Amino acid sequence: MAIPAGLLSVADLDASGIQHLINRAVSLKHGEAPLSLKGKVIALVFEKPSLRTRVSFDVAMWQMGGHAVYLSPDEVGLGKREKVSDAARTLSRFVDGIVARTFSHRTVETLAEYSRVPVINGLSDYEHPCQALGDLLTIHEKRGALKGLRLAYIGDGNNVARSLLIAASLVGMDFSIASPPGYGLDEATLRQAGAFAAGSGARISSVSDCRAAVKNADIVYTDVWVSMGQESEAESRRRAFASYQVDAGLLSLAGEDAILMHPLPAHHGEEVAEGLLDHPRSVVFDQAENRLHIQKAILLKVLGGQAA
Ligand code: CP
Ligand code: NVA
Repeated sequence: MAIPAGLLSVADLDASGIQHLINRAVSLKHGEAPLSLKGKVIALVFEKPSLRTRVSFDVAMWQMGGHAVYLSPDEVGLGKREKVSDAARTLSRFVDGIVARTFSHRTVETLAEYSRVPVINGLSDYEHPCQALGDLLTIHEKRGALKGLRLAYIGDGNNVARSLLIAASLVGMDFSIASPPGYGLDEATLRQAGAFAAGSGARISSVSDCRAAVKNADIVYTDVWVSMGQESEAESRRRAFASYQVDAGLLSLAGEDAILMHPLPAHHGEEVAEGLLDHPRSVVFDQAENRLHIQKAILLKVLGGQAA
């Protein structure tokens, strides 16, 4: 059986595929050319908490005439109550698509391997592709372009950073990450992104100095120091990242029109200074809203939408 195309990684797309999703999201956001998912049902299988991903996928399905069934960590017990492969084979007899939020990226890959229907990664420990695609929509909306812009990512080389780097390197956006030693992105990811960047013209750098990364940036981006699943490392991570907070001083080193982005949830007073999300340059709530619009475009691509 051929495995249906879902979205496990941003690298499942190319630059024109990303631009197509952004264009469709823009037209959906502005109520042009409505498309329908009437009669389609997705399962939201979540091993971790969520506000944005859960609600935006549920609302996206409802607004396009479909339906979403949410399954909490306790209900499914992926790999505990039932083998991941059995859950995938069963669930895909009932629904047209699966959105999974997992601890291990291997779990989302196994779901996709055994599912008859497309699987979308709603965040794993390795990638958060829906976030990165929504972020590109926001950047496109705020700055009118993607290629040639400079993004500075301050903080952990985590799932959000990895997906964003891959997305940036595909579309030709420069990406500079500043992390404490030992917490940057891994070599394999930098190599993968480097290969994409060779084709797109993006420049990638990985440094330890926040000020060097932020200098003249068009976008300043940060995420939590302690991701879901890393709670036992919280103390050591807070110590390692203490000088990596994005505050008004750091933001002022970026380009004069630079925007501040964060995927949320934020830990105010840790990775982002208290009050900074209310800074005039902060676009974080528009960024959160755009998850809805980009995910509609993703769902239409993956599930096959029809003219409404
Ligand atoms: N940004 C994001 O994915 O938020 P949630 O964890 O609330 O879904
Ligand atoms: N890096 C964070 C992102 C949350 C949306 C986490 O994985 O917890």
